[in-house]
Amino acid sequence: MTGKQVSTKIQAPQGMSDILPEEQLFYKKVYAVGEKIASFYGFKEITPPILESTELFEKGTGEATEIVEKQMYSLKTKGGDSLTLRPEFTPSLARAYIEHGMISLPQPVKLFSFGPVFRHERPQAGRYRQFYQFNLEVFGSKRPIIDVEIIYIYYNILQALGIKKLIIELNSIGDKECVGDYKKILLRYLKKNEGSLCADCKRRLKTNPLRIMDCKQDRCKQIVSGAPQIIDHLCKDCHNHFKKVLEFLDELGLPYNLNPCLVRGLDYYTRTVFEIIAEDELGRQLGSLIGGGRYDNLIKLFSRKSIPACGGAGGVERIIAIMKERGLNPTINPGSRVFLAQLGDSAKIKSLKLMEDLRRAGISVAESLDKDSLSAQLKNADKIKAPYSLIIGEEEANRDMIIIRDMDNGRQTSVKIDKVVEELKKKIKSIN
Ligand code: HAM
Repeated sequence: MTGKQVSTKIQAPQGMSDILPEEQLFYKKVYAVGEKIASFYGFKEITPPILESTELFEKGTGEATEIVEKQMYSLKTKGGDSLTLRPEFTPSLARAYIEHGMISLPQPVKLFSFGPVFRHERPQAGRYRQFYQFNLEVFGSKRPIIDVEIIYIYYNILQALGIKKLIIELNSIGDKECVGDYKKILLRYLKKNEGSLCADCKRRLKTNPLRIMDCKQDRCKQIVSGAPQIIDHLCKDCHNHFKKVLEFLDELGLPYNLNPCLVRGLDYYTRTVFEIIAEDELGRQLGSLIGGGRYDNLIKLFSRKSIPACGGAGGVERIIAIMKERGLNPTINPGSRVFLAQLGDSAKIKSLKLMEDLRRAGISVAESLDKDSLSAQLKNADKIKAPYSLIIGEEEANRDMIIIRDMDNGRQTSVKIDKVVEELKKKIKSIN
């Protein structure tokens, strides 16, 4: 034996998994429903590259975020560039909006994307290192109706997938001006309780005190429960914006919960932030399926223009986990209409050609080209409940004939091979 012997078992990287054939249908379903609803509301699909310059995320996602601090998969290319596997879509789409001059299109520009993102997190249920997002962004409008449109679309996507018992968690974190004032007030309060904060939050006091509001440690939660709330410190414009968002949600009858601790883990947010959470029968929260919000200052980091924006992302694996748990299996295409059985080499070749004619005619076919016994093949036809089998043996192949067998009553008819598609179409029409 040449070459190095592999001593350890090679497996998919931790926190990343194969999407197996039986899982594909779930991903396709989420995409199909998302695409249909987003397109209806005027969103156009965009697919950015999976690798982007590291600087894009350092600036866009934000240096003080856990994503940039700890979770990015970054690499140096042979040419010396520093690239990163996207940990989210938003900075990529902001870059694409600027790069392709979308600023000169009629505003707002509405974009959606679907694909994998990468974060080096500690893998656990619902938390992976590679996961898919269904992402929506709207650039060029500061109106509160846009914030609500995004929430409404995600809510409708989840409903269309059959996921009920949803709750929208909502907060406003103000804009640069009011959040600055609020941070000072919050810091004063937190510093008084510094000794009781967890180690991460002690560090956050210096880097990003707002994040202390959503720390999951009990000791920090207790301190936060008595903290001043941003909602009481919004400037007039932010206050009015949020008031409108709430009014629109009320009009639509969407169930929301004002959560003063919802600050979200990304640096770019301004004003509205939201998450959509599924609840189980007992009202327990099952983790966030969708997260998003407004980010009116992100584009300004990359261009001289100030363009307001708002968006969100759905975690596809989390959505699928709930679909599976609740038995919301996507429907499978109608089973194969026809089973093609063959005997001998010339019959195999004719079968392959015939399969293509059937495919073009939209008739689905199953086969066992690797099997030689006719009875084994017909057993397969029974198993998949095909109403008709086509049988082509050496003799039929030599005469360009084929047998159509009605699997219900075993009746067989012989037809010319070039007439079989037409014949089958008639028969299939009569059973539909
Ligand atoms: P995010 O909250 O970081 O927001 O992620 C959005 C969704 O992705 C979460 O609600 C969750 O369902 C899913 N998710 C996050 N991390 C993981 C993980 N490790 N494993 C599995 N699923 C996960 C963003 O990514 C923002 N870019 C959303 C946005 C768009 N805001 C404005 N525009």
